[in-house]
Amino acid sequence: MKTLLRIDSSMRLKNSYSRRIGDNFVQEWKIRNPDGKVKHREVGTCFIPHLDQALFEEFHIDQNPSEKIRLSDELIAELFECDEILITVPMYNFGIPSSLKAYIDLVVRTGKTFRYEDKPIGLLKNKKAYILSSMGDIKTDALSFVEMHLQQVLNYIGIKDIYFYSLDGTADENYATKQLHNQITSFNNSINNR
Ligand SMILES: Cc1cc2nc3c(=O)[nH]c(=O)nc-3n(C[C@H](O)[C@H](O)[C@H](O)COP(=O)(O)O)c2cc1C
Repeated sequence: MKTLLRIDSSMRLKNSYSRRIGDNFVQEWKIRNPDGKVKHREVGTCFIPHLDQALFEEFHIDQNPSEKIRLSDELIAELFECDEILITVPMYNFGIPSSLKAYIDLVVRTGKTFRYEDKPIGLLKNKKAYILSSMGDIKTDALSFVEMHLQQVLNYIGIKDIYFYSLDGTADENYATKQLHNQITSFNNSINNR
């Protein structure tokens, strides 16, 4: 039985394109994995503490864990327990939402998700990731800053099998709705063939 970890990071709960693409993905995923389990981690609309010096020092200490380090442990355990990861993510100011960055800073931990020998070695093995992103402008490069950033981070912690899907031009509702309908079918076909 497979487990999918879904991480949503749009600050919008309603009318969010990235969440909508995510909903479609989960629907299709459940058809492909009828016994599968979907675990949800919300980061867009709840507070994820920022990494600070005290927390960073705690990364290397085992005693008297604070609430923040317990959250970091829980988020890391969730990553190890899943087989596939779905991240829905909007572009904010040319990058990922700060809440998702705060999440990343809690899960990229030496000795937990990577270790250093002569080069960094990611410790999350045999996992697939799907990055479903949305942006207001028209995308001009093969991968946006959002996609490149997440690719780097996931690679660093060992996740190399990554699938990207982006919906651009969401600033124009008519254009975006048309794109969404046109692309969703080819997207479903491509994930079904993976
Ligand atoms: C604070 C903020 C900053 C944004 N910055 C960018 C940006 O740098 N580039 C871009 O193409 N769109 C930008 N957008 C537009 C969003 O990427 C777009 O509305 C996207 O659809 C949001 O995702 P969602 O529909 O899942 O909420 C920004 C939107 C907000 C609210």
